[in-house]
Amino acid sequence: MKDALPQTIFLQDYKVSAFTIDKTDLVFDLGVEQTRVTATLTVARNPLSDEQNADLVLHGSQGLSLQAVSVDGQRLQEDGYLCDEESLTIKGLAGHAVITTEVLIQPQNNTTMMGLYRSRTMYCTQCEAEGFRDITYYLDRPDVMSEFTTKIIADKTHYPVLLSNGNPIERGDLDAGRHFVTWHDPFAKPAYLFALVAGTLSCVEDSFTTVSGRQVALQIFVEEKDLDKCDHAMVSLKHSMRWDEQVYGREYDLDIFMIVAVDDFNMGAMENKGLNIFNTSAVLANPKTTTDAAFQRVESIVAHEYFHNWSGNRVTCRDWFQLSLKEGFTVYRDSQFSADMNSATVKRIEDVSYLRTHQFAEDGGPMAHPVQPDSYMEINNFYTVTVYEKGSEVVGMIRTLLGAEAFRKGSDIYFDRHDGQAVTIEEFVQAMEDASGRDLSQFRRWYKQSGTPQLTVNSHYDAAAGTVTLDFAQSCPATPGQAQKQPFVLPVRLGLVGEQGDLPLNAEGDTEIVYELNQTNQRLVIGGIENVDQAPVPSLLRGFSAPVKLHYAYSKDQLIHLMANDSDGFNRWDAGQQLSFALLEKLTADSHQQRPLEMDSQLIDAYRSLLIDESLDPAMVALMLQLPSEAQLHEEADVIYADAIHSARLFVRQSLASGLSDQFLAVYHRHNVEQTYAPDATQIGRRALKNVALSYLMLVDDLGVELAGAQFSSADNMTDKAAALSCLVNCPAAAEQASSALQEFEQQYRDEALVMNLWLQVQAANSQPGALQRVETLEKHAAFTLTNPNKIRSLIGGFCSANLVNFHHPDGSGYEFLKQRILSLHSRNPQVAARLMTPLTRWKKFPEPNREKMRDALQVIADEPELVKDIYEIAIKSLQ
Ligand code: BES
Ligand code: ZN
Repeated sequence: MKDALPQTIFLQDYKVSAFTIDKTDLVFDLGVEQTRVTATLTVARNPLSDEQNADLVLHGSQGLSLQAVSVDGQRLQEDGYLCDEESLTIKGLAGHAVITTEVLIQPQNNTTMMGLYRSRTMYCTQCEAEGFRDITYYLDRPDVMSEFTTKIIADKTHYPVLLSNGNPIERGDLDAGRHFVTWHDPFAKPAYLFALVAGTLSCVEDSFTTVSGRQVALQIFVEEKDLDKCDHAMVSLKHSMRWDEQVYGREYDLDIFMIVAVDDFNMGAMENKGLNIFNTSAVLANPKTTTDAAFQRVESIVAHEYFHNWSGNRVTCRDWFQLSLKEGFTVYRDSQFSADMNSATVKRIEDVSYLRTHQFAEDGGPMAHPVQPDSYMEINNFYTVTVYEKGSEVVGMIRTLLGAEAFRKGSDIYFDRHDGQAVTIEEFVQAMEDASGRDLSQFRRWYKQSGTPQLTVNSHYDAAAGTVTLDFAQSCPATPGQAQKQPFVLPVRLGLVGEQGDLPLNAEGDTEIVYELNQTNQRLVIGGIENVDQAPVPSLLRGFSAPVKLHYAYSKDQLIHLMANDSDGFNRWDAGQQLSFALLEKLTADSHQQRPLEMDSQLIDAYRSLLIDESLDPAMVALMLQLPSEAQLHEEADVIYADAIHSARLFVRQSLASGLSDQFLAVYHRHNVEQTYAPDATQIGRRALKNVALSYLMLVDDLGVELAGAQFSSADNMTDKAAALSCLVNCPAAAEQASSALQEFEQQYRDEALVMNLWLQVQAANSQPGALQRVETLEKHAAFTLTNPNKIRSLIGGFCSANLVNFHHPDGSGYEFLKQRILSLHSRNPQVAARLMTPLTRWKKFPEPNREKMRDALQVIADEPELVKDIYEIAIKSLQ
């Protein structure tokens, strides 16, 4: 560790700031050796603070070299202020003052990608959560909101484009080939929403007329070579703007909205006011170079960052414990948007698979925390699947409980009441209560209690009485710091599926109700179920109406019945998942005990029905044909036998492939059609199904290899090309074809960074033996560098999270590899290194010898001298 142990910050210690900053005037003089930042802050004592004599303590950081400080134009002598590695303290201020500081920084040497840094040939910023203090001394906390004016000075040849938030108000030429642009943002904002970009950038322009008739200029800035990859983001942006007007009544507020694409970026994208900065991987798209999945990711990230303009920017967070206020809500909004733009059921299935795989694992591990955490060491470690995805589920449950109309009324109240404020999650819930008249006191536990609730349901059908009795029981396992839990409010959307389909549940004839559970044990009796020969099958938690683990002792026949007859698409899919999960669980045990594996013919029959029914939605069939992923099986296992899980899953895939090869082939040909590429739901569904069929055909005989080879050569879009490549690479019988395909691919795309990331990723995920060696060889390839987060995620992240059987090799080589990479990376880029830690934190679920080897790796990391706090926090907490 640095000098002292890192501090823990507690929610309960929150205090309002002693000072406000009404106006912030910045001048950036960008130079080759040094960048000079002059900040003029109009500060005042905050009347809401009970510390009216407090010193002004501005946040800062190690990289700031302070040149001068003045108060009201008077330069302070060195004894007039106190400056250390984290702060600048000015004593004895009156009620109002104008503070001017001048610092030198070196963005060209900034490898953390926080604050002001360089990506390729440009300057850019990333200030959330606490990066602004790497740029200048400031009250770097989200409840200090200020009106910013920013003047950028730079060499005109290298940096013709100079951008910041708001509107440009002045520009001009200076001597020595330099020029400047001044920007003014009329909306007060916290410093984390500040942005600056300087570079040689080309721009795609469009415009949008808002619902009230205002014209907004839309600009996407990219390097010239990427100009042909902006259309999809622009269309997505316009769709988002219209959607937010129609669905939430939210109109855009400035005259310009800009997006800039940068290659080196820790995250996907950032919602800076009027100037969103995007990872190139989250904005660029072109059919020739971009897969369907990436097209959809661009659409949802563009939407997400745009939606933050209201949920995050106009109404922002009081402190970082409220992060889910903006992130959970905005994820909820972007998932509703994607559902509306594409297929709602498909989107729901994707989201739930992700939640179950990643969030449930987090909730069950040492880093478990509530949607509203109560403490942290490093806030960057709390941009988690719990804050984001579970936070989104919690918003979704509020909507389910209140109904669409009251929910919309609640969001209107929230936005209108708190416009221009920095607020807490409590204010959001309060607005929802005010809109609906409902008491959400117990519901608030969703924000405070961590862990995934377990919901057990038993049912009893009484034919004579015509009733179905459902007995519900909920519980929640202990999580770090929370031994006991109180019961949650669980909205359970449910129906009863009879032989002909859904049965009416009440006198009104409803076939679906939302049953609210708020006790540990609760009973629901549904009457009027007469003239039914067989017990109806309960369809529970439709649409995954609450983020819980459901236990109901379905028989195989009941699951097959639901798969075919449930009116809820999500539950049809989920029934299939449960069916295959039960088999995989049994086969994993068999494989671990070295018993012979035996396929279940009922699963083959169920899959056959899916394959031959041409009336089904191809996208749904594609999802239903996919077994639970290895990662999900890891999450659901009590003890993770990675090898047995891998073998069991492969065995089931092989059995399905050989039992249904004719059907897979027919499906492949039915959907392998020539058409002009469009990233729409229909085409995406058909390509998905075709490529799932291909992946099964790879397991039969040479046929798959031939088809994949042909598809690889003839594909006119990256979805089909990459799918074929991945099929070949993972096929033991296609070693030669795979290696020539990889070479050809490399030749063709060596200048396309994002495509080469895919190339790295496909190889990193190759589950055949020898994976680690291949990865280590690829680390030396020109397409890889440890300085670019996307490359690290593709190759190192890809190996550790998408190649579980090799990463968890019992010799511990995978852990050793990851440990070394984390240690080479941690001081250069703490955030990216911290995200690589996740797989190691799950060590307690593994058997020996893996368990001990993972623990040892964590211990070595924890013992590293000068460890950054990002890594320290995760290492220490997961060793406990
Ligand atoms: N505000 C975040 C970006 C961010 C994350 C900044 C962490 C600082 C630390 C942004 O709105 C975001 O959430 N981006 C996501 C994508 C989104 C679609 C969930 C990302 O970058 O992955
Ligand atoms: Zn966000």
